[in-house]
Amino acid sequence: MDAPEIAQVDPFHAMAIGRLAYELAGEGRDVIHMEYGQPSTGAPAAAIATAHRVLDSDPGGYWESTALLDRIARHYCEAYQVDIDREQVILTCGASPAFVLALSSLFVPGARVALARPGYVAYRNSLKTLYLEPVEMACGPAERYQVTAAALDALDPAPDGLILASPANPTGTVIAPQELAAIAEVCRRKNIRVVSDEIYHGLTYEGAAQSTLQHLPDAVVVNSFSKYYSMAGWRLGWLVVPPDRVAAARARMNNLFLTPSVLAQHAGLVAMDETAELESHVRTYARNRERLLAALPSLGLERIAPPDGAFYIYADMAHLTDDSLAFCQKLLRDTGVATAPGVDFDPVDGHRFIRFSFAVSTPLVEEAIARMVPWFAACTAKSTEASV
Ligand SMILES: Cc1ncc(COP(=O)(O)O)c(C=O)c1O
Repeated sequence: MDAPEIAQVDPFHAMAIGRLAYELAGEGRDVIHMEYGQPSTGAPAAAIATAHRVLDSDPGGYWESTALLDRIARHYCEAYQVDIDREQVILTCGASPAFVLALSSLFVPGARVALARPGYVAYRNSLKTLYLEPVEMACGPAERYQVTAAALDALDPAPDGLILASPANPTGTVIAPQELAAIAEVCRRKNIRVVSDEIYHGLTYEGAAQSTLQHLPDAVVVNSFSKYYSMAGWRLGWLVVPPDRVAAARARMNNLFLTPSVLAQHAGLVAMDETAELESHVRTYARNRERLLAALPSLGLERIAPPDGAFYIYADMAHLTDDSLAFCQKLLRDTGVATAPGVDFDPVDGHRFIRFSFAVSTPLVEEAIARMVPWFAACTAKSTEASV
């Protein structure tokens, strides 16, 4: 019998683009970073001031802030009218480890977990790392690149679990409330456990996104300070788990990761009340989104998902390439604009997609557009010539 193999985990190609971008910047090139899904702004000023104070006065040991647990529980009541107990909240070092805790607290090895394709690269790879089986559901523009209740119901056999992301990465699409309710109904009926990634909540342009908890109280929710709170490098996030999984998830957090950093927890607590500053970032993203949406036709990119939230546009560029990684590398070398190749998000069709992250300043988005318009025009002309 063959020896069992270590799980194969795919590379994250946007990281390679990021490395090339920094290499080019090191050579003096003026690079615009639209490859990473992270705010270019820092943490709220008051959060940074708090961190300075804590650094000077706190020994900085292992610690879990009960004030932050309470504040997060209150957030669910205020934002979604959902009552949760502080005990159901588990502080994590960002959404990434929160996934490991969520998946390993819900599923046994070999369990089948459904998810949308395209989707965030780490879902598939975290599942594989934990010896869970990703059941990728091909989602196209007709279903706004999201899982639907009908498609989930049609899976035979039904999966053990489902990962939802709304707003999603790479598309920014939001699942409509009635569809989310219908998905929850299928999950209840078929006993499918849900992990809901709500990391882009707060970053929506057409009305707030609903929490899966509003429809399914036993969903596990993943969230983080990395996006709306503009604190990606602070490595702070949280899980909301139903009472039957609290002990399992907490034991995993403490054994695998201990606690998040003291500085991050103090700063995060303050950040949660810095609404004016955080909303000014959302207004910048809204402006950037408008600029990019207006410019896409002049890039020849018209087949896109409607970006209701997050800070991404995922565009079909099948008329230009069938190798999105090489395309993004050439775009970066020629123009200094770094973008993410679709292959990260979709191993089957992603070779013909590109993702733009617009979490940079509006002048940088405008500069990126100015550089890309002639470049894409030349590209389109070349591919038209080649096809006649
Ligand atoms: C959809 C999604 N979930 C989770 C993460 C991981 O976030 P964190 O920085 O909190 O680990 C990201 C990061 O880009 C993401 O896009």
